[in-house]
Amino acid sequence: MKKNALGILLAVFCLAMLAAAPESSSDHPQFTAKNELMAPADYRQWVFLSSGLGMSYSPQGADHPMFTNVFVPQWAYNEFLKSGKWPDHSMFVVEDRGSETKGSINHGGRFQTDRMGMAVEVKDEARFPDKWAYFGFNGDAQTSSAAPKQVCWQCHEDHAAVEHTFVQFYPTLKPVAQKFGTYKASREQVQ
Ligand code: HEC
Repeated sequence: MKKNALGILLAVFCLAMLAAAPESSSDHPQFTAKNELMAPADYRQWVFLSSGLGMSYSPQGADHPMFTNVFVPQWAYNEFLKSGKWPDHSMFVVEDRGSETKGSINHGGRFQTDRMGMAVEVKDEARFPDKWAYFGFNGDAQTSSAAPKQVCWQCHEDHAAVEHTFVQFYPTLKPVAQKFGTYKASREQVQ
């Protein structure tokens, strides 16, 4: 009798744990048969790393500054906190959003508006010869094939501070990578 009650308690506990931590399939990269990445549906529920505003990698800068919001799934973020490294199958979203100054009670500064685009980066050591792959999604596109190496991969390879990610711009991850010795401080230098 006592043993049964314990069994039931255990079963209820396990069910509660499952309900509390649902493993969403879009937290891991999903590919079509043609090796196209499917757009991750619920990335807005992932961990938010930071926003850039009007970041530009050429001297002239942007006339209409956009926000770039960066997200990573909770499971990959947790692994990074433990090691300063990204586990295989980590994925990242950067979404572009327009910005406005005038609206409602606002007169200064800038707030975010509509989504203008989304780019995704995936670490998958078995699927891609270069281990990291890059995908652009225009409008409501649901799938995307990997961009040529020169278009995205090379800049991330040459300038990112931790593996292929721009942790130099993510204030909560930077001290973690520094602690584990995975941070390339030279990538902070103004170029
Ligand atoms: C000229 C350099 C450069 C090129 C080319 C480039 N990126 Fe990036 N990327 C950056 C920088 C800098 C950041 C950090 C942006 C921020 O903090 O908002 C970034 C951030 C990202 C992130 C967020 C995760 C991370 O790595 O830090 C993704 C996803 C991403 N880029 C995808 C792409 C895709 C897809 C392409 C090609 C279509 C691309 N990038 C091309 C410089 C580049």
